[in-house]
This record gives sequence, structure tokens and C-alpha cells, in this order.
Amino acid sequence: MRRRLASSLSLKLLAGQLLVVIAGAVTLLLVAVAVGPGIFHHHIEMALGYVPAGVQRHLNMAYGDATLISLAVAVGAAILLALALSALISGRVVRPVRALARAAEEIARGAHHARVPERGSDELAQLARSFNEMATSLERAEHVRRQLLADVAHELRNPLATIESYVEALSEGVLPADAENWEAVRLETARLNRLVNDLQKVSSAEAHQLDLSRTRVELGAVIQDSVRAAAPAYSAKGVALEQTIDGPSPVVVELDQERFSEVLANLLANALRHTPTGGLVRVSAGERAHLAELTVADNGEGIAPEHLERVFERFFRADPARSRSSGGSGIGLAIVRAIVEAHGGTVTAASAGVGHGASFTIQLPVASHPGRRVASATAPGRPPRAQ
Ligand SMILES: Nc1ncnc2c1ncn2[C@@H]1O[C@H](COP(=O)(O)OP(=O)(O)OP(=O)(O)O)[C@@H](O)[C@H]1O
Ligand SMILES: [Mg+2]
Repeated sequence: MRRRLASSLSLKLLAGQLLVVIAGAVTLLLVAVAVGPGIFHHHIEMALGYVPAGVQRHLNMAYGDATLISLAVAVGAAILLALALSALISGRVVRPVRALARAAEEIARGAHHARVPERGSDELAQLARSFNEMATSLERAEHVRRQLLADVAHELRNPLATIESYVEALSEGVLPADAENWEAVRLETARLNRLVNDLQKVSSAEAHQLDLSRTRVELGAVIQDSVRAAAPAYSAKGVALEQTIDGPSPVVVELDQERFSEVLANLLANALRHTPTGGLVRVSAGERAHLAELTVADNGEGIAPEHLERVFERFFRADPARSRSSGGSGIGLAIVRAIVEAHGGTVTAASAGVGHGASFTIQLPVASHPGRRVASATAPGRPPRAQ
């Protein structure tokens, strides 16, 4: 099929050029026959006056021969040029098109590493660049899909194995069917349920399918609500939770409050989990370089430099064994990032190293026209705040 495509392109190109050559030659011949002799005789008569019939015949033959020879030489040269040009152009066009077709076929067969050479700066080079970009993002998506399947299988295996062993032991009478053992089974099924819900959230957020219902709110009010919701868990563990709002005027952002509360709840739960009793977690907000900035900083365990880049990956846990026993499956920060990015923002992690605390900073676009009144709707019935 590729060969057919290539040869038909070259043939079409050659046929087009030959058509131009033939049209030129026929036009030239018609004009030479129709107009040429009249003009020729007129000039001979003007120059010589009377021309004897014998001389006239020779002059006619000379005119005809000269016209035919020039026409033949011109047509021959044009055909040679057409052949050379179509070989050159078809080489330039057909080769990259053939390479594109070959790479597309390879990718369709599952060889996602296939790429085409990007030479020059013409439209074909642009096409090759776009093709390669598309192939790269396909390859990345495929890698993420495989990784996700492997991770999901891995994450499901542990709670399922626990449930299976409990059910077996309970049914064979090895374990007593008391409240404690049933509670263990219930906890594992609850973990499975949470895992499935988290996966659904992160995959719809990453596929940009989050239905955001945004309202204009003061960032400080959103933080206050989340801090209030997290406070009981903090006091139960004996970790202080502080909130500071910088700047003279409130920072107004457009948020889906429910989703954003989830972001803050995740960050606050992480900070609490990784900060020992007696520690401090501070949530601060302000405006920097026309962006709303929110930071959750703790003085807890901290994060090793080699882990900083990876904490937002799905299923990443710096200490998998410990996190598993305490219920973390490593999806929280992936959800955080997906929701923040769906709002057009960014989230970054920072830490001076293990034992030196960690901080997570979110930057969001500030809502335009901040002069209007803003409804803070997190707590039902709360009156609108003035800007
Ligand atoms: N404040 C923090 N201090 C130290 N390490 C942290 C902090 N927040 C996150 N991490 C590290 O990043 C990893 C990923 O966090 P993430 O919230 O994605 O998962 P998780 O908390 O382990 O599980 P989940 O949130 O799904 O219950 C954590 O396991 C932990 O190693
Ligand atoms: Mg978490």
C-alpha cells in the first residue's frame, strides 16, 4: 500500500508536468503555424521587395525546419527537466510520507517508540514534528496505563489476601467469629472501597472530566473551614494547627469549594500523619506575583530530596510498609495535584530533608474583578462577605 502510495504520487507529479510540457508544445506549434509564416513573409517582403518563387520555397522550408528543430529541442529539454524535477520532488515528498506511514503502522501494532526524522523547516518537517509529539504523548499515556494497572493490581492484592485469609479462618473455625475478627474484615473492605473511590477520583481528574462548579470565594474563608474540620484530629494527636493570612486585603479565587476542601483535607491529613505529637502545622495564604498562594507547612518528619519529585505520583509512599499499616495508599497527593491543575493552578512540595518538616504550596490564579461581593458558601447559610 505504501509502495502504491509512493508510485502513484510520483506518477501524478510526472503526469502533471508532462501535461504542462505538451500544452506548451502544442500552443507553440499552433502559433508558429498560424501566425509565424505571415509575419515572416511580411518582413522578407519589406526587406527585399519581390522574392522569386524558388527562393520563397526555400525560405518557407527554412522557417518550418527552424521552428520544428527548436520545438523538438525545447520539448526534449522540458521533458528531461520534468523527469528530473519529479524524481527530486517525489523523493523529497514521498520519502517522509512513506516514513510517516511506516511509523504510524508500527505505532498501531503497539511499537510506541516509533518516530520519524525531522529534517528542515517546511510543512513536511512540521508534520513530522507534530507526529513525533503525538507519538510521545501516546507512549507516555500507554506507560501510565500499564503502570496504573500494575499498581492497582498490587494495591488490591494486600487487602484481598487479608480478607481471604480471615474468611477462610472464620469459616474453618480457626478464628472465632467474634466482633473483633469481623471488624478486621470490615476494615479491609472499607480500605478497598476507599481505594476504588480514590482511583475513580484521580482518574476522572487526570482525564479532565472533573465537573467543577466554581464560585468566587475568599481563600481565607475556605482555609478557615478546612482548618475547623481538621481541628479535632489535630487536638487528639496533640499537634498544633495555625492559620495565617498575609496581606491587607482578602485574596479572592474562583473555586469548586467541595473539591478544594478535599485538597486541603488531604494536605492537612498528610501533615498530621507525618508530624509527631507536640509538632506544629501552619496554613498560610496570601497573594504573590498576581497569584493566590496557599502553603501547608509542618515541622514533622520531612521528605528526603530524592522523594520530593515523586510524592505526587499515584501510589508513591516514602515508607510503603508504614503507610500501608496506617491506611495510606499513596493517592492523596495525586488527587491534590489533579484537582489543583483542573483549577488552572500548580502545587509543589518542599522539604529541607528528613527530620526538617515539609511544606506544600498551591498557586492559583486570582479571580478577576475582585471588587465585587463574594459569596463564601462552604458553610451553609454563611452570609456573603464583602471584598
Ligand atoms: N507532610 C508530609 N511530610 C512528610 N511526608 C509526606 C507529607 N505528605 C506526604 N508525604 C509523603 O508523600 C507520600 C504520598 O502522600 P499521599 O498523600 O499521596 O499518600 P498517603 O498519604 O500515603 O496515602 P493516602 O493519601 O492515599 O491516604 C506519603 O506516603 C509520604 O511518604
Ligand atoms: Mg495522603
